[in-house]
Amino acid sequence: MSDKKILIAPSILSADFGRLAEEVKAIDSAGADWVHIDVMDGKFVPNITIGPLVVRAVRQTTKLIFDVHLMIDDPGQYVEEFADAGSDFITFHVEACKDPAGTIAKIRSKGKKAGVSIKPGTDLSSLDGLLDKVDMVLVMTVEPGFAGQSFMRDMMPKIEQLKKEFNGYVQVDGGITKDTAKEAITAGADVLVAGTAVFGKESYAEAIKGLRG
Ligand code: DX5
Ligand code: ZN
Repeated sequence: MSDKKILIAPSILSADFGRLAEEVKAIDSAGADWVHIDVMDGKFVPNITIGPLVVRAVRQTTKLIFDVHLMIDDPGQYVEEFADAGSDFITFHVEACKDPAGTIAKIRSKGKKAGVSIKPGTDLSSLDGLLDKVDMVLVMTVEPGFAGQSFMRDMMPKIEQLKKEFNGYVQVDGGITKDTAKEAITAGADVLVAGTAVFGKESYAEAIKGLRG
């Protein structure tokens, strides 16, 4: 393992939504690097979560980077709204998008960082021609849709391979715990998303520290 700083992006999907502003302030004070925001539409994934209104509201509470993970069909349609709501990174699923290059260009034209994501069953080859256009690739280590699922360690070779081909941020999302964080870091992860492993703990600061490896 190298000495690079691993970035931790707690997913607010596991926060107490009745106290969302306080929860975001709490992860900020606890040393989180980014705020991961899981947007689900009930179509691309079975769950429905957060829209641009909530992103905009939470934007007032922190200066941390907003890392927006769009798990929605036809993501290009909503890029502008999420950008204007205060996102910093906008990541979408290639499986949900007919024109990934155009969507990346749209994100960039709004002055935002662009990411592409792949589900566990999606091969790295689906990112051919896109890697030199994005700031981040998000490799899912659970099926997108819900927090609290088990880490799929058979995704590690995908991360190792991606690391050889891509210079930007490699983000790993799903089932990250103190133990699986180590495996993801060893495989090459730069940014770890964690829902349950942060918001499910008594001390957010200790939880975040424990994930850095
Ligand atoms: C799953 C989401 C993840 C999830 C992570 O669709 O993209 O960000 O909330 O939750 P944990 O860390 O509990 O697996
Ligand atoms: Zn996510």
